[in-house]
Order: sequence, then structure tokens, then C-alpha cells
Amino acid sequence: MLEKLSQMLTRKERQSNNENTVRDREALPAHIAVIMDGNGRWAKQRSLPRIAGHRAGMKTVKEIVKAADEIGIKILTLYAFSTENWKRPRDEVDFLMKLPQEFISTELDELIERNVCIRMVGSKEELPSFTRDALEKAERKTLNNTGLKLNFALNYGGRNEIVRAISEISQRVKEGGLEPEEITESLIAQHLYTREFPDPDLLIRTSGEIRLSNFMLWQMAYTELWFTDVLWPDFSKEDFYQAIADYQGRARRYGSV
Ligand code: FPP
Repeated sequence: MLEKLSQMLTRKERQSNNENTVRDREALPAHIAVIMDGNGRWAKQRSLPRIAGHRAGMKTVKEIVKAADEIGIKILTLYAFSTENWKRPRDEVDFLMKLPQEFISTELDELIERNVCIRMVGSKEELPSFTRDALEKAERKTLNNTGLKLNFALNYGGRNEIVRAISEISQRVKEGGLEPEEITESLIAQHLYTREFPDPDLLIRTSGEIRLSNFMLWQMAYTELWFTDVLWPDFSKEDFYQAIADYQGRARRYGSV
């Protein structure tokens, strides 16, 4: 009973966060990265199969994309499938591979209306052709859009990304087009999937896990981290605005004083 009351209060407190929670519209994080965790536990709590959690998670994706666009976030990167997620049961992997296609077929028109530009970050080669085709179509159709940049990290692994960058750079050195002294942080950044984007200012991870899980390891050197116990399917735009408001209260020093 007490626990229920406390849950209700927490929900009420969460719902009291609205766009006004984000006081300073000038100091928004330009790039927000999200580890969308807790779909499986959300489903388990309801005695549903794990894929029901992912379906509910997709609904949250739609809400948060809208919330980000409405408040004026420039870049939103969502971790939808890691290089390690292939180890999941076959039916779950199959389902997760179908979600981008479903999302794009139902949402693309509205996203185009919102001037959203879609990109995939990660290794496309191993994806089933229907997933790759759907993403490439979305990338093509939104290429010139100048609004929110919405990145799906799919078949993405931070270490894999760094290995690929080192391998490409070594090849350039070997071929004589680059001197080892020319290898700088900015050169490495130019060889990452995220080469077009600034590093994330804020990372949000749901479901109470407090780790990076191989997400944007290079890019998050100075990212502000924000964790919540809320499971991704329950994550609301009020929670999203709360994360942004907390970020705005932080002092970013980048190693300085
Ligand atoms: C982690 O939760 C979640 C994933 C690996 C998949 C995330 C995918 C979505 C939210 C839908 C993506 C939608 C689009 C449009 C691409 P988990 O399954 O590990 O949860 P658990 O830790 O509770 O088991």
C-alpha cells in the first residue's frame, strides 16, 4: 500500500515536469544520446513476451522524438541495437530488425513534415536487406531536411567503431597518404560513424542500469550522464524534460577549473 502510494507520488511529480521545466531554452544540450533500456523487464512485469516490451518501446521512441523536436534539440541519437544484441534469442533479434522498417513506414511522412533528418550510425553490412533498405530510404528522403537530426544506432558498438577507424587510418599510413604524426583526435573523430555530429552533451539511460554498454565510447569523454530507474516503455516526455533541466544545472568544466 505504502509502496503503491509512493509510486503514485513519484508519477505525479514526474507529470508535473513539462516544457516549462526546461527553463533556459538557450542552454539546451545540442546532442542527446539515449540508451533505451528496460523493455524486457517492462514486459516481464506484465507477463508479456519480451517483444511486447520492444513494441511499447517503439511507442516511446515516437513520443521522445516529438518532444525533442518540439523543444528544439538539434541531434538525438538512439541506441536501438548493439553489436552484442545478436546474442539474443533468434525471434527477438528478428523482431528488433523489423522495428525500423515498421517505424519508418508509419512515421516517415510525419517526420518529413517535421523537417527531421534521419541517419543510421553503425555497421550496415550485417543487417537484413529489408532493415537496411528501410533505413536507406529514410536517409535518402530526409537528406536535405534541416531540422532535428535523428540518429538510430543500429548494429553499433563503440569498440568496433574505434577498431574500424584505426584500421582505416593505418591503411592510409601504409599507402603513404598520411604520416603517423598527422594522427590527431580530430582525425580519429573523422573516421567514426558519427563524423558529421558533435559529441553528445547529455546521455540518458533508463531502467536503473548505470553503465555505457559500449555506446559512443570515444564521443562520451565529456558527456553529462543522467540515469533514471524508469523503464524505457514508461519513459515520458516529462522525464525527458527533467533530464534536460538537470543537465542545465550542471557545470561543465572539461578538465578546467
Ligand atoms: C534494451 O532493453 C532495448 C533494446 C536492446 C532495444 C531497444 C529498441 C527499442 C526501444 C525500439 C526501437 C525502435 C526503433 C524505431 C528502432 P532490454 O530488452 O535489454 O530490456 P531488459 O534489460 O529489461 O531486458
